[in-house]
Amino acid sequence: MKTEEEIRPPATLVIFGASGDLTRRLLAPAIAHLSRDGAISPEFAIVGIARTSYSDADFRERLDEGAREFTPRDQGRPGELPAVVRYVCGDFGDPALYASLRGVLEEIESKRGGQHNRIFYLATPPEADPEIVRFLGEQGLSRAENGWTRIVVEKPFGHDLDSARMLNESLRTVFEERQIYRIDHYLAKETVQNIFVLRFANGIFEPLWNQRYVDHVQIAVAETIGVGHRAGYYEEAGVLRDMFQNHLLQLLCLTAMEPPVKFEADAVRAEKVKVLQSIRPFPADAADDWAVRGQYGPGVVDGKPVPGYREEENVAPDSRTATYAAVKFVVDNWRWSGVPFYVRSGKRMAKRISEIAIEFKSVPHHYFRHESGELPPNVLRLRIQPEEAVSLKFEAKIPGTVADVESVYMDFPYSSLGAASRGGYERLLVDVTHGDQTLFIRGDEAEEAWRVLDPVLKAWEKESPPAFPNYAAGTLGPEAADRFLEKDGRRWRTLGK
Ligand code: BG6
Repeated sequence: MKTEEEIRPPATLVIFGASGDLTRRLLAPAIAHLSRDGAISPEFAIVGIARTSYSDADFRERLDEGAREFTPRDQGRPGELPAVVRYVCGDFGDPALYASLRGVLEEIESKRGGQHNRIFYLATPPEADPEIVRFLGEQGLSRAENGWTRIVVEKPFGHDLDSARMLNESLRTVFEERQIYRIDHYLAKETVQNIFVLRFANGIFEPLWNQRYVDHVQIAVAETIGVGHRAGYYEEAGVLRDMFQNHLLQLLCLTAMEPPVKFEADAVRAEKVKVLQSIRPFPADAADDWAVRGQYGPGVVDGKPVPGYREEENVAPDSRTATYAAVKFVVDNWRWSGVPFYVRSGKRMAKRISEIAIEFKSVPHHYFRHESGELPPNVLRLRIQPEEAVSLKFEAKIPGTVADVESVYMDFPYSSLGAASRGGYERLLVDVTHGDQTLFIRGDEAEEAWRVLDPVLKAWEKESPPAFPNYAAGTLGPEAADRFLEKDGRRWRTLGK
C-alpha cells in the first residue's frame, strides 16, 4: 500500500515568471482544482518569483483571480489555494534573489518537518532559462538533502536545433535528465492519451495500423484565434516553432510509434524518438515541395470581422511570419513506408478543430455505386477538440432494391464516459509530484523534433514567402495548400466530418 506521502507528496512549487499570463491562466486554476479535489497534499506550498513587486497577499489574490476567471463553467468552482503562498520579488540575474528564495524555502520546509521536495517551474521566456538554471546550480538549489528536486521547463524549448542543444546542455550541467520535465500540454489532453489506449488496449486496430492498409494520415490543428497579445513572441516563433516542433510532431509520434516495451517514461519516449529519427530529412533547397506556408489577412471568424495578421498589435506591417503551415512528413520505416503524414495547422481558420484522420486504402475492386460516384475510403478519426471523440467512417447499403451505398459513422463521444475532461496542467502537475515523466518530452526528443524542422525553418528564413497574406481569416488556409495535396492525388479532409 502506498503511504499518504507517496500519494500526495508535500512539495513546494517555485514559479519563475509568476506575474505572467501562464501562471494566472493555466497554473492558478490547475492548483485550485487539485486542491479542491484533494489531489495535492494540504502541505503543498507555492512560491512565486518575478520582477513585479507584489506582497504575498497580492500574489495570492492574483492566483485566486486567475483560478476564478479561467475555470471553465462546466468544471465547478475552483477550490481554495494552498495555505502557504509566498512571493519573492527580484531579477533572475541577481544572486541575492536565490539567497532570498533559499531562505523562504527553508522556512516553509522547516514548518513541514524538514521535507525538501521542490519543483522549480520555469514559466519564463527561453532566453531567461539558462541563467536561472545556472544560479539554481551555483546556489546549491538543484539537489535536495531530504527529498527531491525537479525542474519543469515550458515550451518553446529553444528556438532551433542549436539553441535547444544549448538549453539541454545548460540543464544537464545542473540537473539530471530524470529531474527535468519539458512540458507539452498536448500530451496531457485526455484524447491525446487515448491514442495510446486506442492503439494498445484494442486488438482490432493495430493489425491495420501500417502501410499495408493505411493510405495516408492527416493531422490538423486548426484554430480560430489570432495571435492576440502574444505578437512579441509569435513574430519570432511562427507556426512551425509554436505548433509543429511540439504539439503536431507529438501527435504524429503517438500515431506512428511502435508499441513500447512498457508503458513507462523511457520506453514510451524511446519509441517516439525512433519515429522522429525515421522522418525523412527535408532537402534544404526544395523545402517548398514539402511544406506550404501561409499568413492570414483580414476576414470574418465566427461572424465577426477580424484584422489580418499584419494589422495585429506589435506585428510588423511587412511581417514574413507564417501563421499557417502544411507539411508532408515521410516516415521511412517498415511500418510506414510509402504512407505520407500530411500535417497542417493555422491561426484564424474557419473552425477550431484538432484531429488525426487515418485514411485506409480503398477496396481493390468496386462493385457498388456511391452517391458521389467514387467509393470513399474508410477513415478513423481521433477528434482531440473541441468535441472529443473517435469516429469510424464506413460504407453501408442504402435500404431499397438497388445496391447503392452511403457513408455512415460509428461514433464514440468521449463525454459518454462521464467527467468533463480538464485542462492538462492538473495532470502534468500531479505527474511531476509523482516523478512520472511519461507525458513529458525527453531532451533527445526535443532535439530530434528540431532536427526534423530545421531545414524548413532555415529555407523559410532565407527565401521570401509567397505574397503574404495568402489566406483570409475564417477560411481553411491558402489555396497553395490544396494544390500541395492535389499533387499527390489527395485532398484535405473536410475538417470535422
Ligand atoms: C500553445 C501555442 O502551445 O498551444 C498557442 O503557443 C496555441 O499558439 C495553443 O494557441 C493551442 O493549444 P490548445 O490546447 O488551445 O489547442
